[in-house]
Amino acid sequence: MHVTSLLNVSENLRFALSNARISYLFQVSPEGLLEHVYFGQRIADEGALPAVPRRAYRCTTLEFQGVENYNLSDTPQEFPLFGTSDARQPMFHAINSAGNSTNVFVYHSHEVLADKPPLDGLPSARGGDSETLIVTLKDAVSQLRVKLFYTVYRDHDVIARSVQIFNDGEQAVELSHALSSSLDLPADDYELLHLRGTWSREMNEQRMDLPAGRFTLESASGTSSNHHNPFIALMQKGANEQHGQVIATALVYSGNFAISVEQGEFDSVRVSAGINPFNFRWLLSAGESFTCPEVLHCFSAQGLGGMSQTWHRFIQQQISPPQFNGVARPTYLNSWEAAYFDVSEDVVLSLADKAKSLGLDMLVVDDGWFKGRNDDTSSLGDWYSDTAKFPNGIEATAEKVKHKGLKFGLWFEPEMVNPESDLYRAHPDWVIHVPDRKLTTGRNQLILDLSRSEVVDYLFERIDSTLSCGNIDYVKWDMNRLMSEIGSAGLAKQQQLETAHRYMLGVYGLLGRITAKYPQVLFENCASGGNRFDLGMLRFMAQTWTSDMSEPIGRLAIVNGASYLFPPSVLASYIGPVPSHQNDRLSSIKLRGEVGFFCAARGLSLNVEDIDNDEQALKEFIELYKATATDLASARFYRLKYTNNEVCWQLTSADHKTIYLGYFHILSAPNLPYRRAHLRGLDAGANYQLKSNGEKYNGAALMRMGIDLPYVHAMQFSNDTDYMDRGDFSSRLMVFDKC
Ligand code: GLA
Repeated sequence: MHVTSLLNVSENLRFALSNARISYLFQVSPEGLLEHVYFGQRIADEGALPAVPRRAYRCTTLEFQGVENYNLSDTPQEFPLFGTSDARQPMFHAINSAGNSTNVFVYHSHEVLADKPPLDGLPSARGGDSETLIVTLKDAVSQLRVKLFYTVYRDHDVIARSVQIFNDGEQAVELSHALSSSLDLPADDYELLHLRGTWSREMNEQRMDLPAGRFTLESASGTSSNHHNPFIALMQKGANEQHGQVIATALVYSGNFAISVEQGEFDSVRVSAGINPFNFRWLLSAGESFTCPEVLHCFSAQGLGGMSQTWHRFIQQQISPPQFNGVARPTYLNSWEAAYFDVSEDVVLSLADKAKSLGLDMLVVDDGWFKGRNDDTSSLGDWYSDTAKFPNGIEATAEKVKHKGLKFGLWFEPEMVNPESDLYRAHPDWVIHVPDRKLTTGRNQLILDLSRSEVVDYLFERIDSTLSCGNIDYVKWDMNRLMSEIGSAGLAKQQQLETAHRYMLGVYGLLGRITAKYPQVLFENCASGGNRFDLGMLRFMAQTWTSDMSEPIGRLAIVNGASYLFPPSVLASYIGPVPSHQNDRLSSIKLRGEVGFFCAARGLSLNVEDIDNDEQALKEFIELYKATATDLASARFYRLKYTNNEVCWQLTSADHKTIYLGYFHILSAPNLPYRRAHLRGLDAGANYQLKSNGEKYNGAALMRMGIDLPYVHAMQFSNDTDYMDRGDFSSRLMVFDKC
């Protein structure tokens, strides 16, 4: 079906945002309130609707402004507020200039834009073939005005929402809740899926029945955090990888967030998302406006697999920096595990020779290259080359590395400072802090106060002066601690609780300036691994260091969990040392290489001795990684199987010509079942040749009958390695070419 207009506004002010597959409907009530009507699979928006917001007498309930039976506690709304008969999570809450918190917004006007405007100071999804509806609501008493933004895309089953709040009055108001979206859904049986974790165990899938009451995922320590990703999927009970309806929500924001799902007294469900109201206040002075981060809602009628396909394509096309879309990521050697802080020009050049001889594309100099940085007790903030290690500066070393025919990458942790640094000695008030309190440290470091423009300017100047040499192709942008004693010397007393959000605005401002000046530099987002792995950071950085957990068995859950939202193109991995520095496990090069295969950015972080011991196997993986790098940058990813003991993933190249199937079997046992994998999304009429044995299999058979997976033995009974794997931690990568 071809839908020409994505947006339809009826005479009685019903708004319909639809593409060929989804519809999002809401309307203005006779009282002027915005009522939510529907979000789901496309429906025709003309004629009478069989289900509309209802009004019925219910004992003891309040009636909004005396309107008979109009009780907002079970009315689906687009901009719900507290104080006029609805006591659920409000989207907005403010102490107005009269000192009370009752605000009532009614419809004022609307406009339609042919595309999507960017958000003021915040990252947001790009537009394209899209239309944006802006509805303006006003509160005549408090003289506040809000603009609700809705973007609908023709090719993506995603609705983008955000809010801008204006104070048109003459006195300041204090915002406590400035959420970006609220979605009211009908009473039904739902389940939730979210991603939780901690350092080195990020992104663990958590599935549960929707509880009664309010369930909140949140962060309050300055980053979106590895505790809960700013993402949630609400699904029809029993939905699985291929079937069932799913409504998922993700924030384009990297700071303190809250996503809550509330099943109220009448069982209807409210999904709210935005900046965490906890420990947040914003003084909105007369004439000022406040922009809320963007929230994305995605709908899939094809289960969680369909949801992931929608997110992956959306992130690749509308979020990731476009210049890296579909572009092969360089394979690299990172100096960290090879040298830790003992980097120097000699060490770097010899690592470069090693990288070159292995066939890698890039050498990355990690921590330790800047002034006085010999361990983690000092120097963060002093972004000048350590001339004892790099006599002519890191820029000169970069040039030498490039002469060897390699790309050059460099580590920064720009947002941090050690008290033991020239920067801190000169500007002790440039850190996030509150007066008269001893400061909490993390890895001996403090967080620079990026809510202050002079701090952002300093960092821009330092990074710019290094990148301007033109020989730096890649930056690993690290961020290794959480906020504490949260306050800013640059803000007035009444504005102290603005610090964390203003910090994020500073980070985005800095990233925006740097990435605009150096569009060809590939930035990798890292925050002790996945402590700030979100769509806000991905708007600037094409890839993320998924987790410090580089041991492959520990990585399986992380990559599987991440794949609900993130495509392989944004995931980075490397082959690390054994025993693993994270969980002490021994694993084969084969397993490390094959799990790592499923991330688009792949590298090594090994010392020279480890490299020499496994040189041949490493060379083979690097060759495979390079040959498949373009496919990985735009491949489709399918979760075929995920249990405590077995994981099976499929990747299909964007041209549908190559299929990669990974099977990972964790612990062996005697007499295990024979397993099959049912491939997805193949051409039923085509044949696919399995590279390892040359057999051609029909697409329909591979999808419907499935292909035999290796049988995992506790003991080796046969040498038929085509069908056998042995022992714990076995893995198999199968490659099929479409004939
Ligand atoms: C963090 C990162 C590591 C490395 C070190 C350097 O721990 O996760 O990969 O870059 O910082 O100090």
